[in-house]
Amino acid sequence: PRTIDLAVIPGDGIGPEVTAEALKVLRAVLPADIELVETQYPFGATHYLESGEVLSDESLARLKQHEAILFGAVGGDPRDPRLAGGIIERGLLLKLRFALDHYVNLRPATLFPGISSPLAAPGDVDFVVVREGTEGPYVGNGGAMRIGTRHEVANETSVNTAFGVERVVRFAFETAQSRARKRLTFVHKTNVLVHAGGLWQRIVDRVATEYPEVAVDYLHVDAATIFMVTEPSRFDTIVTDNLFGDILTDLAGAISGGIGLAASGNINPDREFPSMFEPVHGSAPDIAGKQLADPTAAILSAALLLQHLGLADEAAKINGAVARDLAGRGEARRGTSETGDAIVAAIGEH
Ligand code: NAD
Ligand code: IPM
Ligand code: MN
Repeated sequence: PRTIDLAVIPGDGIGPEVTAEALKVLRAVLPADIELVETQYPFGATHYLESGEVLSDESLARLKQHEAILFGAVGGDPRDPRLAGGIIERGLLLKLRFALDHYVNLRPATLFPGISSPLAAPGDVDFVVVREGTEGPYVGNGGAMRIGTRHEVANETSVNTAFGVERVVRFAFETAQSRARKRLTFVHKTNVLVHAGGLWQRIVDRVATEYPEVAVDYLHVDAATIFMVTEPSRFDTIVTDNLFGDILTDLAGAISGGIGLAASGNINPDREFPSMFEPVHGSAPDIAGKQLADPTAAILSAALLLQHLGLADEAAKINGAVARDLAGRGEARRGTSETGDAIVAAIGEH
C-alpha cells in the first residue's frame, strides 16, 4: 500500500483554519489503500515568539525528508516590533522556497462557473502564472548606508542568473505546450530593467525556437495589469520573475473570484526536494480566529499537491468537488469549516 509522507505547516492567523479544511478534504479523497501520514510542524510567528526559532537547520533537515509540504500561511501581528522586517516571511517561507529549490511557483487562475468576478465581463478566465521562485529581488541582495539620515541609500538588487531563468522559462514552455491554447506571455519591464530584462528576453527567444507550436508574446508588467482587468481571457500561460509574479497573482486571484480561491504550488520539478503547496493569500490577521476565511484556496492547493505526487484522479476529484460546491454556493455566508464540509460532501456527488 502507498503512503504519503506529508509535512504540515499550518502557520499563523487563518493558516491553521484553512489547513484543517484542506487536510479534511485530503483524508476524504484518498482511497483506503493510500495512507496519509501527517507530521505537523509549529513554525510561524507564534512559534518564533514562544521559542525563538524561525526555522533551524535541524528543522529544515527534517522537512527535507518528507514527500511534500502543505503550508497554510505565516505572518503575525503587523504592529509587533519583534516581527518587523519580514523576519518570519523571509526566515521561514522564503528560506523554504530557496532551500528546497522551488524554482517554479505555479499559480493557476480559473474563474469557476457560478462565481462572480468583480469584472463586468470577465470572459473565460483560465490561465496559469509560472512565477520564478528562487531569484529576483527576493534574494536579499541589498543593503543600506547612512540609515536614518537625509543621505540614506537603500539598495535591493534583483538577482537573475542564466541558469535560474532558463529552467523556469523551459518549465513555462512545457506548460504552455501541454495546454489547449499553447500560448505563452512573457511579462517583464524590459524597457526599464534592461539588464535582467535583456537576459530574460534572450532566453525566452532562444527556448522558443524549440517550441514552434507555442505562440509567444510579450507584455510590460504595467500593461499586463491592464489586460488582466480588461481582457483576462487573452492569457493562457504567463512566465515572469519573482516580484512581478507575486503582484500579478494577487490580481489574478481577485479577478477570478477572490483571493480565497487562489491556489499555488512551490515546485521543485527535478524532485530533488519536497515541493510545497499553499494558498496564495497570507495569514489575514483582519479575519483570523473568526471562521471567516474561505478554505477553498488551501483545498485547491491540496489538489495541486496530489497532482504533483502523481495522483491525478484524486486531484481531479477535489477540483470537481470544488467546482460543484462553487456552482451552488450562492450569496449565503458560510464558515470556514462549513465550506470544508460542503466540499467533502461534494466529493461523493457526481
Ligand atoms: P492577506 O492575503 O493575508 O490578506 C489580504 C486581504 O485578503 C485581507 O483583507 C484578508 O482578510 C483577505 N483574505 C485573505 N485570505 C482570505 C481567505 N482565505 N478568505 C477570505 N479573505 C481572505 O495579505 P496581507 O494582509 O497583505 O498579509 C497579512 C500577513 O500575511 C502579512 O504578515 C504577510 O506578510 C503575510 N503573507 C503570508 C503569505 C504566506 O504565508 N504565503 C502570503 C501573503 C502574505
Ligand atoms: C506570497 C507572499 C510571499 C511572497 C511573502 C509573504 C514573502 O506574498 O506567497 O505571495 O511575496 O512571495
Ligand atoms: Mn503574495
